[in-house]
Amino acid sequence: MRNKATEENFFYITTPIYYVNAEPHIGHTYTTVLADTLARFWRVYGKEVYFLTGTDEHGDKIMQVARDAGVEVAEYVDRISGIFKTTFEELGFTYDRFIRTTDKDHEEVVKGILKKVYDAGDIYFGEYGGYYCVGCERFYTEKEMVDGRCPDHQTPLEYIAEKNYFFKMSKYQDWLVNHIKENPSFIEPERHRNKVLSFLDDPLADLCISRPKDRLPWGIPLPFDDNYVTYVWFDALINYLTGIGYPDGANFAKYWPVVHHLTAKDILIPHAIYWPTMLKAMGLDPYKTLKIHGYWQVDETKMSKSLGNVVRPLDMKLKYGFEQFRYFLLREMSFGLDSSFSEELLVERINSDLANDLGNLVSRVLGMTERYQDGVVKKVEGHEGKLADVAEGIADELPGLMQGFRFRKAILKIWELVTAANAYVESVAPWTLNKEGKHEELAGVLYALLEVIRILAVFLTPFMPETSVKILTKLGLELTGDKVFEELVMWGQLQDGSKVQKGEALFPRVEYSPE
Ligand code: MSP
Repeated sequence: MRNKATEENFFYITTPIYYVNAEPHIGHTYTTVLADTLARFWRVYGKEVYFLTGTDEHGDKIMQVARDAGVEVAEYVDRISGIFKTTFEELGFTYDRFIRTTDKDHEEVVKGILKKVYDAGDIYFGEYGGYYCVGCERFYTEKEMVDGRCPDHQTPLEYIAEKNYFFKMSKYQDWLVNHIKENPSFIEPERHRNKVLSFLDDPLADLCISRPKDRLPWGIPLPFDDNYVTYVWFDALINYLTGIGYPDGANFAKYWPVVHHLTAKDILIPHAIYWPTMLKAMGLDPYKTLKIHGYWQVDETKMSKSLGNVVRPLDMKLKYGFEQFRYFLLREMSFGLDSSFSEELLVERINSDLANDLGNLVSRVLGMTERYQDGVVKKVEGHEGKLADVAEGIADELPGLMQGFRFRKAILKIWELVTAANAYVESVAPWTLNKEGKHEELAGVLYALLEVIRILAVFLTPFMPETSVKILTKLGLELTGDKVFEELVMWGQLQDGSKVQKGEALFPRVEYSPE
């Protein structure tokens, strides 16, 4: 069955492709967790989904780190990109392609697009001098600079003047302003959209899209001048097209109209200004939405290698379990705003939300079913109190929340069912019903609670996929993919006579032990 409510049957989600100058940390993990959660949600909802992530491997910055490491750049990028890929596999991300800008097909697509835009007259040769930040790989305007420094990295900006190729970005300024104004969901949340509009209050400069090969040999050669390579952002943004088989692939036709780009606020300008104008010049429709999330700090300070406070996903997995860390990321940050990570808070959340609220609910209900009914489900209906309504309300609200990228709100909503079920256990006191020999009522109460657990497992599939499978296994069930969300969350599906098993606790309690 397809969902009636679904307007579109396809969903395409991208993460930024990550620079291979650093190993995966909380920031890369967060964006990829969000994309993975959306991909999993819309899949279970019945849509066809494409999820793209990968690595960005050209440019000055990568060249410099490889040089500093004393390694051939090609060897260096293979190594770090490999680390990203194996880490993402270990974290269980369900991407459809892990793209690298050094992939052959990407190089061909970039060259094809450059040629097309050049032939159309939107690329010209000229000279330009400006203030460059290697960290951001972009020029800054006088207005954006802070005391001659990069507003993001706080490093002094380098003045670079050389002959290069330029993309006529300014030509599309009016079109872009109109497009943003007419489509409020094009860039969200609103604060980031406003930032873009205020940037566009000033005249837009053209975009320098080449680097002379004798200064920077590491890049995709321009198809119309072999002395130059392509500017790293012009190359990188195009990955979103290569990834779905532009120009001729079937996936391109299917997924481009429903593309959602997900990034943090650090790369707002390239995504909100360079990219749509590039698409316009190529003759393509702009992307559907750009969703901008905030920045993770660590213990209220900026995360950096030099401060030694970098939070790595595999360390978190080893110490606390990745599902627990994933839950924290989704639960803690309001989309669009900054948040601070602390291990102490993570431990608190694991113990209170996961071990206490969810974990205890599951083990109590299954424990009582084992104790009072030998683990056998008895389908006695009519004892669900408000629980079925609470579950139905959440099922109705989740698609809208996911459409709005409101991950935190979605989790809080799901926890309303956890809280309601825990309160129900306390108020009906199944142990008393057992003592009083009210077995029929007890069976009804347990049936309602088992249904809550089953539906919780469905709700949690996108957010905590392993936990969801663990809960379903305890109930003797699995999600096979032949039923979609709306069917799965319908009340009353546990079969009379089926067996459940308490097994191990879902979440061991943890202690905070600073090194
Ligand atoms: N290579 C470019 C992106 C090209 S996309 C066509 C790039 N790479 S990056 O490695 O610097 O990744 C930046 C992205 O990583 C952010 O937009 C965000 O998705 C994620 N994060 C990195 N640090 C972060 C935080 N501290 N907090 C949240 N996310 C951040 O820019």
